[in-house]
Amino acid sequence: MALAGFRDLRFQTNLAGARALTDGAYDFRGISPTTPLSSLNLNWTEEQLPERIRTKHVHRLHPYLGKFVPQLVEVFLRKIEPQKVCDPFCGSGTTLVEANALDIPAVGADISEFNCLLSKVKTAHYNLPKLEKELKSVLAKTDSAVNSSKQFQTQSDYLNCWFGHKALRQLLAYRTLLKDYEYSDAMKVILSRAARSSRLTTHFDLDFPKKPQTTPYYCHKHRRICKPTDDAMAFLSRYTGDTIKRIKEFSKIQTRAPVRVICGDSSSLRFPEFDAIITSPPYFGLIDYHEQHRYAYELLGLNDKADLEIGSAKKGKSKPALQQYLSDISRVFKNARKSLSDDGTVVIVVHDKSELFEELASKSGYYLEAKLSRSVNRRTGMRKTDFLEDVLVWRPA
Ligand SMILES: C[S@@+](CC[C@H](N)C(=O)[O-])C[C@H]1O[C@@H](n2cnc3c(N)ncnc32)[C@H](O)[C@@H]1O
Repeated sequence: MALAGFRDLRFQTNLAGARALTDGAYDFRGISPTTPLSSLNLNWTEEQLPERIRTKHVHRLHPYLGKFVPQLVEVFLRKIEPQKVCDPFCGSGTTLVEANALDIPAVGADISEFNCLLSKVKTAHYNLPKLEKELKSVLAKTDSAVNSSKQFQTQSDYLNCWFGHKALRQLLAYRTLLKDYEYSDAMKVILSRAARSSRLTTHFDLDFPKKPQTTPYYCHKHRRICKPTDDAMAFLSRYTGDTIKRIKEFSKIQTRAPVRVICGDSSSLRFPEFDAIITSPPYFGLIDYHEQHRYAYELLGLNDKADLEIGSAKKGKSKPALQQYLSDISRVFKNARKSLSDDGTVVIVVHDKSELFEELASKSGYYLEAKLSRSVNRRTGMRKTDFLEDVLVWRPA
């Protein structure tokens, strides 16, 4: 599809626009392929785009470190109007959810089985009364099972070490029972989310806790003494309600546009044809995407393909690791090029402070058409500092 306004642009996106944006003004329906790139405002502040809006409906079915902002995806989907969009690093499914809401067919791939499960659960269609009935039923059955004399045990050292006895019994009971239901995938996500919250960790280190916290501790988040939890039931119950609410909310804007999620290595798998890519690749040496959901891999028995994860933190930041990272990222974009139409568009959101992506375009069969930087100053938690994020627009060479 023809794309106006991308040629040779290198600039910081509309800061004046950012200041003018008021609460509730994240309505991007006015953006179309003729909207000049220079008029886009991508510099939302925390007040303008608060967390509850960035994590609207299914975007917050489960925590995920490294997610991009759905509003950014929406802006570019409206600007490009693709026939079909691909995200070769689909992660928690942000591109797929936003594309579906705009009636655009989408395909996403990820090496992490848990991330693929999350993307599928977010974009699936549900019979809502049945979903609600099933999710409440498995919860009630879990409650009865844990109060009976039934045995629930696991050989997993990880699970036995990271959960209190009672919490683990509740999680294992839920895991046993979910197999009997049609919507067991949604249950797996609830189970994982409850497991994440009921691990023996401090409240301020939920992303990558180093060792189990078995005794009371001073909590930097709540500024008081907190105790590690031994109860998963409260979380299972809370997340059941929250999941039903979020899926119902998304169903109001969900369309019948097909969404396909492929679990595999994007440097070698075969993609169907598409005319746009909107993606955010793994950053070099920053995050271990499998490890951040270790509890889910252990509880759900998912296949661990962390060795194929590009740029993972555990591969380090050495020079050879950097060369490997650049070569792996390039292989993904080369592979995706085979399925991208010749007039297609690639949008890459990346924090490229070392300008690693400058050379990658030509090495992978593309040229850089535009580079936008946007100011990110709305992060919370670990990442409070402001920084400039790049949005690269590539075209097939
Ligand atoms: C920055 S995250 C993407 C986040 C996504 N934009 C979202 O909003 O959830 C990068 C993703 O790339 C995935 N990944 C890493 N190596 C991969 C590979 N070889 N093939 C496919 N996906 C890979 C990781 O598992 C991770 O989910």
